[in-house]
Amino acid sequence: MRTPDYDYIIIGSGIAGLNTALLAREHGTVLIVTKGKIDDCNTRYAQGGIAAAVGPGDSPALHMQDTLAAGAGLCDPAAVQVLTDEGPQRVARLIQWGVPFDTIHGEVALGREGAHSLPRILHAGGDATGQHIELTLAEQVARSDIEVLEYTLATGLVVEEGAVTAVETLNGVSGGKETFGGRTVVISTGGAGQAFKYTTNPDVATGDGVALGFLAGATVMDMEFYQFHPTALWIEGAPTFLLSEAMRGEGAVLRDESGRAFMADYHPLADLAPRDVVSRALVAEMEHGSGGRVYLDITHLPAEIVQSRFPTIYSFCLNYGVDITKEPVSVAPAAHYMMGGVRIDTWGRTNIRGLYACGEVACSAVHGANRLASNSLLDTLVFAQRLVASSIGHAPERQELLARTPEETPVETSDVAATLRPRELVCASMPALSKEALQELLWRNAGISRHGSRLLLTARILCAWERTMPEPADQAGYELRNLLLLGRLMVEAALIRQESRGSHFREDFPDTSPNWEKHVQLTGEGVAG
Ligand code: SIN
Repeated sequence: MRTPDYDYIIIGSGIAGLNTALLAREHGTVLIVTKGKIDDCNTRYAQGGIAAAVGPGDSPALHMQDTLAAGAGLCDPAAVQVLTDEGPQRVARLIQWGVPFDTIHGEVALGREGAHSLPRILHAGGDATGQHIELTLAEQVARSDIEVLEYTLATGLVVEEGAVTAVETLNGVSGGKETFGGRTVVISTGGAGQAFKYTTNPDVATGDGVALGFLAGATVMDMEFYQFHPTALWIEGAPTFLLSEAMRGEGAVLRDESGRAFMADYHPLADLAPRDVVSRALVAEMEHGSGGRVYLDITHLPAEIVQSRFPTIYSFCLNYGVDITKEPVSVAPAAHYMMGGVRIDTWGRTNIRGLYACGEVACSAVHGANRLASNSLLDTLVFAQRLVASSIGHAPERQELLARTPEETPVETSDVAATLRPRELVCASMPALSKEALQELLWRNAGISRHGSRLLLTARILCAWERTMPEPADQAGYELRNLLLLGRLMVEAALIRQESRGSHFREDFPDTSPNWEKHVQLTGEGVAG
């Protein structure tokens, strides 16, 4: 067994990683390994804010009820209770650390988003919440003795006798490889939006943590559930930039080409319906309704309110020629958040001793089949606290917790992969592997709307690509390997789940089935192929 160089190695420097590092520092030496600069992360772009039951008339029980409803029967109620009960304390700690949440008349200002029964979203800098939290935490880390290795990609985990003992790394600049021993290793690498052609996520979101965990023997769960945000900016030449749901929380409406507000045709909550409903409604309108484009209209608000509540969005759109205070802006759905990931219990533990996961990369089933808006930052804060507590022995034995988790369907990936060997048909028409080809394939066939035949074809192509892909030699190569593996796990899980639920919609199984009120878990030794 390797002697640990550090008590904690944290992989990733988003809000989950930095927060975990600061908490862990109270109990030992900490190394953060991050593949970009310390502030290159997904959570930095979070606009909406943090949901927590801190406002008048709100309660953890009400927050729990909304979270369970959005999760469409697949949330683990124990995890949701932890999230909603412990949320307000974690937010109080952020305030202590200096996060400048917006206030109104001396009280914290609370926004509203889809599927919340009342305003409960704390925000900072209007629509720059993630940036403010990330900056505050990064400053705290800079003032501490936490070591930070930037431009360093974690490429593998060393597991000995069922316990993680070290992290293998590649320096993205020099190409140098190093291995660091760690007593506790935390995967907090964020999401995987780069698996899709259109995403609100930055370039760094390449599913690295799911691949790292899975290849080391960790179980992954709920990989079929990927949330598509309905309102990303759609202007030729502009990036796929998020237009926060908080805009609809402030009364913005979605309109078709003729100016008709159409969401009431799709759901009683109209523009504040759950995200999966709104995303599919947009696609239906764009394809079969009035045709063409769909617009987000916030012109009902006075210009100065729009500019102060949504300064980032206002400036960004203006830069691309649209003044949202004067005219509606063209939007389209984009991949946004991965509900599945490395399976953890409510103390952040994976099935490998010493290996924890936190944030978007982790799956405790707290979000179920569809995450409630602005629950993700809260998730990172609450479960980071618990994983650090668990790492110093303040958690019950693992077995007790596993016995309380919801019903599950363990599935060996090798069983699925056996039916997915590439066939001649696929090889004859198969595009060559590239990041762009993968993104296009997954967007078309594993995106907002799925069908068994397209998923099967996709799975075969992915297996064939995995078989022929050379060993990664540099950061881009590892990222492609990770995206490819993540895509395969997502497509396999989507094939297995023969129903529609939450963010997973199957044209060939459009109904929700009580038989599928259970989780798909994938385990496997290495990449099947
Ligand atoms: C948004 O501001 O619409 C995104 C917030 C979230 O994904 O929770």
